[in-house]
Amino acid sequence: MDDVSPSHDDLLSAAGLQAERLPRHVAIIMDGNGRWAARRGLERAAGHQAGAAVVESVTKAAVELGIEWLTLYAFSTENWRRPQGEVTALIALLDDYLDQQLATMDRYGVRLRAIGRLDHLPEGTRNRLHQAATATRDQQRMTLSLALSYGGRDEIVDAARALAAAVAAGTLRPEDIDHQRFAAHLYAPDAPDVDLLIRTAGEQRLSNFLMWQTHYAEYVSSPPYWPDFTREHLLDALRTYQGRERRFGSLTPAASME
Ligand code: IPE
Ligand code: IPE
Ligand code: MG
Repeated sequence: MDDVSPSHDDLLSAAGLQAERLPRHVAIIMDGNGRWAARRGLERAAGHQAGAAVVESVTKAAVELGIEWLTLYAFSTENWRRPQGEVTALIALLDDYLDQQLATMDRYGVRLRAIGRLDHLPEGTRNRLHQAATATRDQQRMTLSLALSYGGRDEIVDAARALAAAVAAGTLRPEDIDHQRFAAHLYAPDAPDVDLLIRTAGEQRLSNFLMWQTHYAEYVSSPPYWPDFTREHLLDALRTYQGRERRFGSLTPAASME
């Protein structure tokens, strides 16, 4: 693997960041596309289109900064309740994103994955996701996980079902279920817990995002609507994160739960 950049530490210190205190896993609730469009007198779909264009620049910035995991909330289980036309437009944008960005992601060293009830997505989209995951599976700079048809409660219910099935089959004893074994049944069992959760459009709500994985995440609400979110806003959120003291319930600062 190439180094991210020979001046990686310089890049971070110029941004006022400490390399050793970078979050391993950043998760973003990309919110405000509709309001961005409304403010310009445009259709909501135009906001989603502008928002899709921001995904590449934020991914690139995260790779350059040395973030290991980036999870983006692109479509929630609740978003299926939106008008059919908006849902169709969102899925078409996702298809376009996958068609256009696969080569770029590969070049950045990004391993692309998806989490959620993917079986609810159209077959063409599922095929593209599968192809993208296969093509980039050996990339190691960063994992970009797209949360699609994703619901935090569904994810927990799905894990509970898998564990219950193992108990019913006699291969697992209830008393052997602990945090680790439970987490092994989440959609991305290899993902570390979320360190930093960013929500744009100034909102402060989890909206059924990574409920298990954010149990000790630092929350940062970022003011811009997602289509206006830039690398600078990401850096702001990272600086806010590094200004927080994480103690995980103890009386002393700690780097992680362990
Ligand atoms: C986020 O923008 C994108 C998705 C939820 C798919 P919204 O569509 O929620 O935009 P607002 O919140 O209505 O402005
Ligand atoms: C959360 O945003 C889902 C995504 C960003 C994909 P929403 O706009 O759907 O959430 P609510 O309705 O404001 O909680
Ligand atoms: Mg919204």
